[in-house]
Amino acid sequence: MRLAVIPDSPQERQALEAGMVPTPLFETQFAFTLAQVVMVATQLGVFDALATGPATAAEVAECCQAHPQATGKLLLALAGSGYVRTDHKTYELTAQARTWLVRESPQSLADKMVFQFHEWDLMAQASQYVRTGQPVEFHERMNDQQWAAYQRGMRALATAPAQEAAQLIAVPAAASTLLDIGGSHGYYSVALCRRHPGLRAEVLDLPEAIKHAAPLLAAEQMGDRITHREGDALHDDLGDDAYDVVLLISLAHHLTAEHNRALAARVARALRPGGVFAVMEPFRTDPSGGITQLGALTDFYFGLTSRAGTWSADEIAEWQRHAGLEPAPPTALTSADFGIQTATKHLHQVPER
Ligand SMILES: C[S@@+](CC[C@H](N)C(=O)[O-])C[C@H]1O[C@@H](n2cnc3c(N)ncnc32)[C@H](O)[C@@H]1O
Repeated sequence: MRLAVIPDSPQERQALEAGMVPTPLFETQFAFTLAQVVMVATQLGVFDALATGPATAAEVAECCQAHPQATGKLLLALAGSGYVRTDHKTYELTAQARTWLVRESPQSLADKMVFQFHEWDLMAQASQYVRTGQPVEFHERMNDQQWAAYQRGMRALATAPAQEAAQLIAVPAAASTLLDIGGSHGYYSVALCRRHPGLRAEVLDLPEAIKHAAPLLAAEQMGDRITHREGDALHDDLGDDAYDVVLLISLAHHLTAEHNRALAARVARALRPGGVFAVMEPFRTDPSGGITQLGALTDFYFGLTSRAGTWSADEIAEWQRHAGLEPAPPTALTSADFGIQTATKHLHQVPER
């Protein structure tokens, strides 16, 4: 997938092909305007207001406690980008808005849109990051409200990928214990436990996260089969021969190579023989294999916001191999350059200390 300027007419196509369209303008001014329009509409509840049927701008404004004229402009902007349709009197949702932005939708990304206001502020520090090389390290700077938005945003992102991951991760027969490192809301554990009735899970995360992730896990009604465990992936001893499956999903890109290598060694010790270590990440593609737009932008985003950036499947496999595990070939997910790199602990294997 990539973002692109799409011509509306044959003349525009010709101009685009002739290099006469100022694409940087589209990719900045129009991109940031559209981003704010969609985020603000979600935050104010515009999509929810239209979920029950068409409404005028004044009706939407009243429902969202917003200004009628400004809401009219917002709705028109949404209509121009395919989020709503209008007959010039009323507005109604398109299928795309109903699926992804209405709160009640099972695939709703509404909470991710709200967290993006914080990500927007982080991005505003891009110039300082590039000049100094100093990342923002957002995990160390968030206030309680931002932690809450972060955890809800991560849960919103997990719905479809968790179902896919639960099918792709080869859980050993008779597996009974799973550790989900940096597991936040625990929805990946939920999907795996629902698929494997004999499995129980511990979701390890920072205390600031668990405070807000606990109600998200409770909503899944898994009882004591899935519990939260306060901890720090950078330092905690994970035990010996304790787990059949260890997940590390969307955390490796926040950690340096040294941290990831040391964590893999602790995971290898914590796995039982035959156990599986599954690392799921937006893989960075090797530039020699072609640079993908989303992969490269994600790498920049994590470089700025955290300690590291994206990793290639080969780099992750190298940490696993160094820990004494046997990596399998990576598996690609359907969404945005995500993949799973698994490795197995073989019987009689002695992991490095
Ligand atoms: C990007 S989120 C991913 C959450 C979840 N695994 C998912 O994929 O939806 C990263 C999670 O790792 C947690 N985290 C960050 N640093 C951590 C650390 N040092 N130890 C444990 N968890 C950490 C964050 O609090 C957050 O919940």
